[in-house]
Amino acid sequence: MPSLIIDCDPGCDDAIAILLALKHSDLKAITTVSGNVPLAQTTENALMTIALAKAQTPVYAGASRPLESTPTQTNISHGSDGLGGIERLSHDRTCESYSARDYLLNHVSNEDWVIALGPLTNLGEVLQQDPDWGKRIGGISIMGGSTTTGNISPVAEFNSYTDPHAAAKVYASGAKLIMCGLNLTHQLLVTDSTMTAVLELGTQQSTFVAALLNFLLQRIERSVGTRSAPLHDPCAVLAVTHPSLFDFEELSVEVETEGDLTRGMTVVDQRTTRPRLMPNTLVAKQINVALALQVITDSFVEA
Ligand code: RIB
Ligand code: CA
Repeated sequence: MPSLIIDCDPGCDDAIAILLALKHSDLKAITTVSGNVPLAQTTENALMTIALAKAQTPVYAGASRPLESTPTQTNISHGSDGLGGIERLSHDRTCESYSARDYLLNHVSNEDWVIALGPLTNLGEVLQQDPDWGKRIGGISIMGGSTTTGNISPVAEFNSYTDPHAAAKVYASGAKLIMCGLNLTHQLLVTDSTMTAVLELGTQQSTFVAALLNFLLQRIERSVGTRSAPLHDPCAVLAVTHPSLFDFEELSVEVETEGDLTRGMTVVDQRTTRPRLMPNTLVAKQINVALALQVITDSFVEA
């Protein structure tokens, strides 16, 4: 099984991705960042998720604000507690005293993949300290960006928009990169039948995941009237644990950091009429939705 570190901002889909990674990888550590909700809450949500899974994975708290840009309003789409206000588990877990930056800088090997599910601030801080870090690790699988439209703005996805300077550093780092952008994650739609299938597993994890899915379905129903919601963060885990589910294309990806209208846009060179810029990223273009949903649904049976 691949050796992973998850950098995240739980976040409903982050929490589901953590449980997925626990099932299909050696999850060495979790690092947290401010994003969907402030850092203290994303860290608590990561600790609660690990406690719910009865795992011993250490959690390292990271950046509370972006590298350079002004903090954006936290993404209200996961509720004020970041997990949709679902019933919480009481636990006695605490995060490590080491910072996320120091953990990533000193404890990620050339065998490890970092799964980046939130704003890339922690990785940006590491690259500020050691510009060659990205070349020393296994790779980075990113939920972020888009080859098409955005979500937090017409052209930018929330994670890359929140810290465009960190994202630009990551894409320029020379690391082996996978990008699971909105163009991909919007293919992985969960519905009531997904939620029911998960709930029928009858475990503590599946009840937790079904409640998170129900929140995501209620939110999308309120905004667009349909109960069919994209599941973003698990895609970046599956891209490493189950790569055969995906079609990838090697492309150049850069991040706009200065544009008034285009802050955080991932500029992906897909030109067909001119020589393209040198590729730096494996961009996920297609996912086998049925098989991916089967893998995800089957993951919440407890060992
Ligand atoms: O744009 C989707 C991303 O923003 C996901 O990682 C979600 O958790 C939020 O952080
Ligand atoms: Ca996230």
